[in-house]
Amino acid sequence: MKPLGKIFLLDDDELIVSMLERALTGDGYDVRAESDPEGVVDRIRIFSPDVVLLDIHLPGHDGIEILGEIVSQGIPSQVVMLTSDDTAEMAVKAMKVGAADYLTKPFNLDEVKIVVAGILERAKLKNEVAYLRKISSDLTRHEIIGKTNAIHKLKEKCGKFAAAAVPVVLITGESGTGKEVFAREIHRRMHPPESGGFAPFLGINCAALPEQLIESELFGHEKGAFTDAKAEKKGIFEAAHGGSILLDEIGEMRLDLQAKLLRVLEERNVRRIGGRRDIPVDATVFATTNRDLEGAVERGEFRVDLFYRLNAFSLHLPPLRERRGDIPLLARHFLRVYAEKYKKPGLLTEISPGAEELLVAYRWPGNIRELRNLIERIVVLENGERVLPEHLPAEVVHRREGTEGGGRPGPTLPDAGISMDAMEKSMIVQALEKAGGNKAKAARLLGITYDSLRYQVKKFGLE
Ligand SMILES: Nc1ncnc2c1ncn2[C@@H]1O[C@H](COP(=O)(O)OP(=O)(O)OP(=O)(O)O)[C@@H](O)[C@H]1O
Ligand SMILES: [Mg+2]
Repeated sequence: MKPLGKIFLLDDDELIVSMLERALTGDGYDVRAESDPEGVVDRIRIFSPDVVLLDIHLPGHDGIEILGEIVSQGIPSQVVMLTSDDTAEMAVKAMKVGAADYLTKPFNLDEVKIVVAGILERAKLKNEVAYLRKISSDLTRHEIIGKTNAIHKLKEKCGKFAAAAVPVVLITGESGTGKEVFAREIHRRMHPPESGGFAPFLGINCAALPEQLIESELFGHEKGAFTDAKAEKKGIFEAAHGGSILLDEIGEMRLDLQAKLLRVLEERNVRRIGGRRDIPVDATVFATTNRDLEGAVERGEFRVDLFYRLNAFSLHLPPLRERRGDIPLLARHFLRVYAEKYKKPGLLTEISPGAEELLVAYRWPGNIRELRNLIERIVVLENGERVLPEHLPAEVVHRREGTEGGGRPGPTLPDAGISMDAMEKSMIVQALEKAGGNKAKAARLLGITYDSLRYQVKKFGLE
């Protein structure tokens, strides 16, 4: 019989060692028990246990230091510290260093077994969902923040897509622009939580998944369909019945799978690998990509028929630098969120004008995710009342080359003012002329993505 899991046990108390070893081995675990801490980290790495039970007080050694080494060497084992009453504080410290849990001596065996089984169960779940994320269990709702025209229009479109219950939506945009946030928003509007019903939302990352797995993850398989198919398995099209599927990074999907996906979308049913039965698909499919799919189609890397199928209903999320008006709003929103999370009420509630100017001027290559992470870091590290320029990292403070130094960057605003739209349009027209109509080149001249340029060209009716 395959052991339930591997456990490494280190305690200088021989009695505890033998008691735990016997009990856990008896339960079907593969146990290695030791009482000598000398050079133990190497032995742990080689044994590669799922769980390490580690005494906090060892002769001549500090259990927390050993834990620190396990963590810093990236050994994936989960560590449970064994402590005595007088070291409860140490246990808290151990959790901060990276322990999964702790047990206080004297412990009863059932307690040990429950903790170990719980850790193994969590690790198993984590493995299973590493690429198949059960987003439905994630109850955190991401509010869509933004007051710029672009966001209003996108939200409006979300409402229409939801009301019409469209079967497929393509969401494009650079990394961190909120593609998943928008997909969830449409899903939520299609299946309002107040209506009581439960609608699954399952995600799969087409780039992160090993190729041989992706097909069975998508479509499922029957028992015995291939060597490793020990039991039948539902694919996510089946599992998401009545809800939604998020196909992340669709641009990375293999061509033969693209053909199968198209078939599923057209016929609205799936067949498991090795199966004979057509199973009806009743799920909204959200496909996202930060690639230029049209370009991929031209290069023969993406099927043109699938592209048209996906593109029937699409949302293009502009990069943050093209809707700078939302930056202060988003920054304040994240300040509130993280002040609450890190329990820092009353601190960092405002942004100084100098800091705000820098935030608005920065290019944000990582878009909203980058802004969110930056604000989180500031909330954790700083303590003042306001966010100040010195709290910001170098890349935000030093603007793009060419805009530093004396004088103002770029053209000067005439006293009479100017229409932003007209100026944008004129710049795009000029860039297209300079680039001889080559959109990719024009986009480079303007420092924007190809997708954004296409969006602008459409917006201004320049086609
Ligand atoms: N409009 C928004 N309002 C508030 N937060 C947002 C908004 N858009 C994005 N975010 C935040 O930015 C983070 C990144 O968004 P999301 O994961 O949807 O990006 P993505 O476009 O899917 O990125 P990737 O291409 O890297 O997968 C989210 O966790 C969310 O916190
Ligand atoms: Mg995403």
